[in-house]
Amino acid sequence: MSFPVQRLRRLRRNESLRALVRETTLDPGDLIYPLFLCPGEGIRHAVGSMPGVFNLSVDEAVREAEEAASLGIGGLLLFGLPDTKDEQASGAWKDDGIVQQGLRALKQSSAAGKLVLIADVCLCEYTSHGHCGIVVKSGDSYEVDNDPSLELLARTAASLANAGADIVAPSDMMDGRVAAIRSGLDAVGLTQTPILSYASKFASAFYGPFREAADSAPQFGDRRSYQMDGANIREAMREIKLDLDEGADMILMKPAMPYLDVVRAARERTGVPIGAYQVSGEYSMLQAAFEKGWLDRDRAILESLLGIRRAGADFIVTYFAKDAAKLL
Ligand code: PBG
Repeated sequence: MSFPVQRLRRLRRNESLRALVRETTLDPGDLIYPLFLCPGEGIRHAVGSMPGVFNLSVDEAVREAEEAASLGIGGLLLFGLPDTKDEQASGAWKDDGIVQQGLRALKQSSAAGKLVLIADVCLCEYTSHGHCGIVVKSGDSYEVDNDPSLELLARTAASLANAGADIVAPSDMMDGRVAAIRSGLDAVGLTQTPILSYASKFASAFYGPFREAADSAPQFGDRRSYQMDGANIREAMREIKLDLDEGADMILMKPAMPYLDVVRAARERTGVPIGAYQVSGEYSMLQAAFEKGWLDRDRAILESLLGIRRAGADFIVTYFAKDAAKLL
């Protein structure tokens, strides 16, 4: 049977018909809103390359969280800008680190219980050189040393979970970090804290604006010796399998838009919950087009998120979380 018996336009004639046959949904509860915490009080420092994104002191972050909760957003992903950086990334794992302070304050706020608090686990915002692990000299150059970094990542995850993180999310891409974090959490009785691993994280130009927001640009070299090569989808599947074998409860894929095929492939191969991260560059390029009047803001925001859900993501980390929740 084909045309004229088959006419697919019959089910597109009006919004109620379209709504009835819609295959993919988008709900504020599917969205995770990233926040960048900084020391001080009353601070809302605008990030130049990310219109609408701010470095927030803890008190301001609590206000932002309360607004996010009232919009029905699913959770927050927390990053920190420490007041000092060093080679051991001590700001990442010390008890009064900036994200630890933020977590304690958020747990006291009216947003607690409504928002899932996810703490990003990485060292790059806290190391003086801006790399995601410990750096050692090797010949004339420098190398990010995998195994000694694991201990610091595990310490960071336990400290964040103790301060109130509901989920820890390692984004460093060291080999073996999920196992190290799982045993570090279990060793201090945090057996119920889930790990959301950034299982396939590609070395991407689209993280550019984030590095301004989080002040985490590497001082030398780049991240290609630990983040994945953008050409590789089979390797992404190996990363996912290893992280799940090591004990990851959920996986996060990033960036989203240039890697939707990877999200889809992950969806077809695993039964675990999958998140995708619409990263800073994806956000900023859309914002730039909105400023120019080149794209319809509201429609483009929702379409960019719907595409990620359709590819197979259960939830989406996005700087548009508040905007999208208001539109929905
Ligand atoms: C930390 C981290 C980064 C992002 C999330 N966690 C930056 C990076 O790897 O350079 C990027 C998020 C974004 O671009 O929005 N390692």
